[in-house]
Amino acid sequence: MIAIIDFGSQYSKLIARKVRENQVYCEVYPHTITIKELKEKKIKGLILSGGPYSLSDKDAPKIDKEIMHMGVPVLGICYGMQLMTEMLGGTVKTSNQREYGAANLFIDNNFDLFEGLWLEMSSWMSHGDTVEVPPPGFKVLAHTQSCKVAAIGNSEKKYYGLQFHPEVSHTQRGQELIRNFMFNICEMEPNWYADTFIDKTLKEIKNKVEDEQVLCALSGGIDSTVVAVLLHKAISKNLTCMFIDHGLMRKDEGKNIKQIFEKEYNMNLIYVDAQDRFYKKLKGITDPEKKRKCIGEEFIRVFEEESKKLKGDIKFLAQGTLYPDVIESAIGDVSKTAVTIKSHHNVGGLPEDIDFKIIEPLRFLFKDEVRRVAKEMDVPLEIVNRHPFPGPGLAIRIIGEVTKERIKTLQEADAIVMEEIKKADLYNDIWQAFAVFLPIKTVGVQGDNRSYENTICLRVVKSEDAMTANWVRLPYEVLEAISSRITNEIKEINRVVYDITSKPPATIEWE
Ligand code: XMP
Repeated sequence: MIAIIDFGSQYSKLIARKVRENQVYCEVYPHTITIKELKEKKIKGLILSGGPYSLSDKDAPKIDKEIMHMGVPVLGICYGMQLMTEMLGGTVKTSNQREYGAANLFIDNNFDLFEGLWLEMSSWMSHGDTVEVPPPGFKVLAHTQSCKVAAIGNSEKKYYGLQFHPEVSHTQRGQELIRNFMFNICEMEPNWYADTFIDKTLKEIKNKVEDEQVLCALSGGIDSTVVAVLLHKAISKNLTCMFIDHGLMRKDEGKNIKQIFEKEYNMNLIYVDAQDRFYKKLKGITDPEKKRKCIGEEFIRVFEEESKKLKGDIKFLAQGTLYPDVIESAIGDVSKTAVTIKSHHNVGGLPEDIDFKIIEPLRFLFKDEVRRVAKEMDVPLEIVNRHPFPGPGLAIRIIGEVTKERIKTLQEADAIVMEEIKKADLYNDIWQAFAVFLPIKTVGVQGDNRSYENTICLRVVKSEDAMTANWVRLPYEVLEAISSRITNEIKEINRVVYDITSKPPATIEWE
């Protein structure tokens, strides 16, 4: 596998995804990893990420010297290139001026790293410092107009450095450059596929769990579903799934989940109807963060109570933790402290002091890899392709107080949105499409009568990773069909509006 050492770059996860997209396994480590730990990983190549630091900063992150001399090829990107230069005897020029954005890259030396690429291509720059003199034995491989040393390499030792970011889509042919590093230079073979993951994981689960019982909290989303299906394949009858219906799901979703897991998979399913508990707790709460916290806490209470009823028999708890969360907690020390925009709740948000042993079969997968695994295991496409749905459910799509009546109204509106989006064959081109309930009453006219009812806002966005999003230019005919059905079929709504805000500055969900 490839090891990626993170120096606090916002792109480290992206590097990992680009490597994995080429069917090569990789993991991301903090810069504090030791040579001993890395040797145990049996790596074939090393990538040093970029980062927000200058080598001249007092707290600039460094790595163990021996790591550079492990005998595996090294690719340093941006800060990683500068650190490599300094460690191998070159010099780096510090600068207060940043170069940010696209720059034309000219290839001066067609080494293995640039094999098959164009001699001039657009590259993405984001740096202040630059390499002044490459280390002994290195050649300058590329330059841009403002950066004389944009790529360096020592083909004998297999060390390479790039000032630009091959992992971002604005760099032309960046993906091929990463491929050249892995396949030409590290001499790796693509061997990271969904089926090999499944075989390996089933064996691991069997070894770990043996004859013990496992509990798996299901949300109906793809992550917990894939965990449940993997466990079911590995240990079948020793698995119990628990689905807590908080009453904040889409229309009929609770029933559908029950149907899929009981009927299609024949799994032991504990269906906990906790709707009234959640509605009672949410009474009177209007603040978005309080709503989110209240739902997260109540979820934990219900889970604790229900799992106590099973305790004794059950030793393991399975969770759908994904690799981005694992990376986040491992490399947290170099990443800047982030402001909490929203407190997230999902089925991973279970009690901390739980006395189950934890198994997390997806802890090394990215979301798109989970989808591939799901398809390989024939998980119903309806689940594989389902739009993301927030843990606190419809509660954060009702502005103001959450009541049973409002949930019902929103479920109906949301079902119409889903039906029309699917009918127009747009569902798979969209990241998320949903309705938001606004407790804003306006005057309308229905037949000969005056109405004074609430508003539904339609939110439809495209996104790659939910970090940024663009509102979708839905065809007028689809907007019209949705608006006319909602106002005709739902008595409580007499006005529909469309949200034309991107993220940032808005977020995808309204609360
Ligand atoms: P925002 O509203 O922050 O949403 O732009 C980004 C993405 O995250 C989803 N989301 C959540 N998912 N638990 C989840 O599992 C949550 O508490 C939560 N809040 C937001 C949201 O639907 C969007 O895809």
